[in-house]
Amino acid sequence: MERTFVMLKPDCLNRAMLGKVISRLEEKGLKLIGMKMLRFNDAIAKEHYAHLASKPFFPSIVEFMKRSPVVATAWEGKDAVEVVRKAVGATNGREAPPGTIRGDYSMSVQANLIHASDSKETAKKEIGRFFKDEELFEWEPAAISYTYSASEV
Ligand code: PPS
Repeated sequence: MERTFVMLKPDCLNRAMLGKVISRLEEKGLKLIGMKMLRFNDAIAKEHYAHLASKPFFPSIVEFMKRSPVVATAWEGKDAVEVVRKAVGATNGREAPPGTIRGDYSMSVQANLIHASDSKETAKKEIGRFFKDEELFEWEPAAISYTYSASEV
């Protein structure tokens, strides 16, 4: 099964949306395999957003991510990276379609509730950045045989 990384950003915590967003991914059928609360510092922010360092909004995103704690989560499921990206919707919450998490709950390109890995390679890197091996859990959901057919697992 594929793994992906989802960060519940400061707006998600401050708007009391953690439960709602986590529920959306659980209800989709994804399996939560890791979760922790942490606070970004400059070093983590600069590493996590290194690919955006040249963008004009980089200082703003670093300040935003440090403003309050965040919740890092890791998920598992068939085609999890793509499934989560579709569930999350476009970067700009105002443009994300209704039915997606950002489309239903966000009005912003920065305060867009969550960050989700954009590829399997990024997911591996991001899960490794925020979780030690022993903080990731192997477990079998009771409903697994009602979530996938035998040929899909
Ligand atoms: S995505 O969906 O995260 O892959 O989108 P992407 O376009 O690559 O954007 C990367 C992150 O940059 C943030 N972003 C911005 N922040 C502030 N101002 C502006 N204009 C802006 N444009 C993009 C966006 O929220 C993405 O954050 P993460 O945490 O990766 O979702």
